[in-house]
Amino acid sequence: MHFVSSIISNHSASGRSNQYGNVSAFLRRNTEIIMTTTYLPNKKCLLTGAASGIGKAMALLLAESGAELFLIDINANGLQETVELIRGKNGKVNAYKVFSITDFEQVKLFAEEIHALYGAMDIVMNIAGISAWGAVDKMGHEEWSNIIDINLKGPIHIIESFVPKMMQQQKGHVVNVSSAAGLFGLPWHGAYSASKYGLRGLSDVLRHDLKRYNIHTHLVCPGAVDTDLVNSIKISGLTISEKKLQTLKTRFQKHAVKPEQAAKTILKGIEKNEYLIFTSFDVRFGYWMQRKFTFLYEWAMQKMNDYFQKTLTEK
Ligand SMILES: NC(=O)c1ccc[n+]([C@@H]2O[C@H](COP(=O)([O-])OP(=O)(O)OC[C@H]3O[C@@H](n4cnc5c(N)ncnc54)[C@H](O)[C@@H]3O)[C@@H](O)[C@H]2O)c1
Repeated sequence: MHFVSSIISNHSASGRSNQYGNVSAFLRRNTEIIMTTTYLPNKKCLLTGAASGIGKAMALLLAESGAELFLIDINANGLQETVELIRGKNGKVNAYKVFSITDFEQVKLFAEEIHALYGAMDIVMNIAGISAWGAVDKMGHEEWSNIIDINLKGPIHIIESFVPKMMQQQKGHVVNVSSAAGLFGLPWHGAYSASKYGLRGLSDVLRHDLKRYNIHTHLVCPGAVDTDLVNSIKISGLTISEKKLQTLKTRFQKHAVKPEQAAKTILKGIEKNEYLIFTSFDVRFGYWMQRKFTFLYEWAMQKMNDYFQKTLTEK
């Protein structure tokens, strides 16, 4: 695959003072943000998946909070749009690059380039991801591999390339965006859950391994968030009409939170050094139920599975 790549550096002292002047004005205007932005100016934040959805909303929120951004996405147009939006509001994007996080050499190179210019990151956020569902006999090998490569190996590449430098600096935050599917055995989610449970396992280890380096690990388990993911999702084995699928998507979007809301909740969780961050109550409640009333969790999962199977395969 050919990757269009672009790195733009913007490190002038005048840029900094302009930026913080604007950030102060923004903070005065927006009391909700004031509560969540006391420590972000000067913080260097690396985000994957910044072209769309949660990653884009997170990048905008961090920029409004005074952070200096380093952005990655495979979607060139989307990433360019995010960068222009941020810079249009006098936010600071120090560097951005278009490539796939599955390409370890590209991740390593980008890390070397920005470490040489800016030093270690303060916050590293693994947000990029894809979704694909399907019963075991319906999903192709390529789909299984793709989802593990992007959702699990991608974040590993980022962690390998950026966290050692943070360990030297003895501070920081690693934020891994998993999913409700990283906590529960949801129907037709085999491949997706394998990747998201994997990320959860990795986070659980880092949480303890990195504590002595004053690095906080955060595992984000969103429920439904109204992003493009609902349109890009691949579902193998569907037999229902496009119209019925659209009705289901609309139902999902109705109970989903907006990506901007999810980004605010994630930022609050980071500031409070929370390990598990939920963006919706249903996932928090489900996780509590899973641990306290296992039989209820198992019953609910089977009911959901039967409903899912029936709904997605009925003519
Ligand atoms: N939207 C939801 O309901 C929901 C729920 C739970 C978890 N999540 C997780 O949240 C994260 C963000 O998802 P979103 O809903 O914002 O989706 P989205 O599709 O809006 O954004 C995902 C971004 O990741 C980028 N990306 C995909 N593959 C990439 C690759 N190989 N290299 C670099 N970038 C790549 C895409 O281009 C896109 O910009 C994902 O990890 C997803 O699994 C989303």
